[in-house]
Amino acid sequence: MRIAICPGSFDPVTLGHIDIIRRASKLFDKVIVAVLLNMDKKTWFTIGERTDLLKKATADIPNVEIAGFEGLLVDFAKQKKACAIVKGLRAVSDFEYEFQMALTNSKLDANLETVFLTTSSENMYLSSSIVKQVGLLGGNVQPFVPECVHDEIVSRIRQRSKLK
Ligand code: PNS
Repeated sequence: MRIAICPGSFDPVTLGHIDIIRRASKLFDKVIVAVLLNMDKKTWFTIGERTDLLKKATADIPNVEIAGFEGLLVDFAKQKKACAIVKGLRAVSDFEYEFQMALTNSKLDANLETVFLTTSSENMYLSSSIVKQVGLLGGNVQPFVPECVHDEIVSRIRQRSKLK
């Protein structure tokens, strides 16, 4: 059984994430989407909210599982007996950061490979930050997020903007 981990902040999930998860699910027997902590980011959605949104948005992909984890990615991967980490690469700007994480993870666990999938051209520009920025300023985020979780994402962003 070849298990891969798709890690990320997913704050919130976008169509770009779903594209990578869906494509990874065709390459591996099982894909575990891991909602992790990124020390450099202040998230808007709780881990519970992010995992719930991902569960709904991937409900039609049979070999995908969603989990939250607050430790190191390599420890989660070992616990789940995964052989690879799958990440999406959008543009050159992603490369340095992703390369640093891939090398760090391979130093921490030499048996764990990082596999990069190039983002589909229609999602090249897309990020969770774009979704939050457009939503916060009252724009339409429908083109950027899975339809089944659109309303929940908008309502959370609105709640958040009231708190500001
Ligand atoms: O979606 P992101 O924010 O680019 O994903 C980054 C993430 C969450 C995968 C990364 O920060 C991570 O692996 N966090 C878990 C803690 C960890 O293992 N850190 C060392 C890897 S550099």
